[in-house]
Amino acid sequence: MSEKKIYIFDTTLRDGEQVPGCKLNSTEKLNLALKLESLGVDIIEAGFPVSSPGDFESVSRIAAVIKDATVCGLSRAVQKDIEVAGAALRHARRPRIHTGIGTSDFHIKSKFNSNREDILQRAVQCVQWARNFTDDVEFYAEDAGRTDNEYLARVIEAVIAAGATTVNIPDTTGYCLPHQYGEKIAFLVNNVANIDKAVISCHCHNDLGLATANSISGVINGARQIECTINGLGERAGNTSLEEVVMVIKQHKDLGFYTSINAKELNPMSREVSEIMRMPVQPNKAIVGANAFSHSSGIHQDGFLKDASTYEIISPDEVGAECSKIVLTARSGRSALAFRFQKLGYDYTRNDIDVLYERFLEVADSKKEVLEEDLQQLAKQYTTDTVLS
Ligand code: KIV
Ligand code: ZN
Repeated sequence: MSEKKIYIFDTTLRDGEQVPGCKLNSTEKLNLALKLESLGVDIIEAGFPVSSPGDFESVSRIAAVIKDATVCGLSRAVQKDIEVAGAALRHARRPRIHTGIGTSDFHIKSKFNSNREDILQRAVQCVQWARNFTDDVEFYAEDAGRTDNEYLARVIEAVIAAGATTVNIPDTTGYCLPHQYGEKIAFLVNNVANIDKAVISCHCHNDLGLATANSISGVINGARQIECTINGLGERAGNTSLEEVVMVIKQHKDLGFYTSINAKELNPMSREVSEIMRMPVQPNKAIVGANAFSHSSGIHQDGFLKDASTYEIISPDEVGAECSKIVLTARSGRSALAFRFQKLGYDYTRNDIDVLYERFLEVADSKKEVLEEDLQQLAKQYTTDTVLS
């Protein structure tokens, strides 16, 4: 079976940067864009040019220097937005305009006070405007996750006929279950006559913690692009996390997909984004969290020390993380203690470890983690006791 490429569309600089406190200046955005390009992302959503003069400048500067990746600017289905996005992207080697409109009845009625036919025409119109600036136009059907599938299929068919080359099916509110999102993509594959003329894109939010699962379900059902952010940053509970989808695809070769991401750069990139956006990464975050390769319970540590693959499906080296850690707590066992002493240069016998383990447990019960200095103290005391006895 020949593998199919999944295009990685990074929106850290647009959806990610919308997070309160994560705003970047134009030089910071430019530096991150260059790093995203080295990471291997296919499309960089650089910003929303009409939103502020600063964002216009950021998108223009990024467009001028990025060589390999496509540079994308967001717009609403508003002529002025699209013209400004076109202007910001004019020096890009591969410019893409991302334009669209809400298609769920929530959006049609509450946001636009409109009706389905009018929205369908506005969708077609915005794609036509965008095509005046570039042949690479992505249409988003905002809140597609809660849009009626029959109507969504009509909109998608019409925008492809108008020239959209990528069709984005956002689960804007993170509402869908993985099988529902997958069925939505399959419905479009089977019911949009011209779907072969466009790439289907997943843009899933994480309100129910399902963004990664939904994106994977999307590609299993025919989507070929995933929109995601470093560390899963994004509106509210965030977007699909880039590192997670990339590693799901890499680990599950059986899915028959690949991406162009250089996995060894995932941890350095995560740290870079966390620092520059002043957004700490939760320690138990998959792939890039501080505990992603830490083992602390005795049963796990014993298995891991015999063979790392008993408790690790990814080696830290593969994703550019520091080597696996054996953390000592009151739940740790003798083999972990012996291992940590060995790393400090103490080659204790089994009997030594039996004695030291009892003392270790006393220390461990009194604090959250037993550190290197505690081990040194235990070793020193043990040497003194042995000499005296
Ligand atoms: O979540 C969403 O629907 C979006 C669109 C603007 C693509 O971010
Ligand atoms: Zn979004």
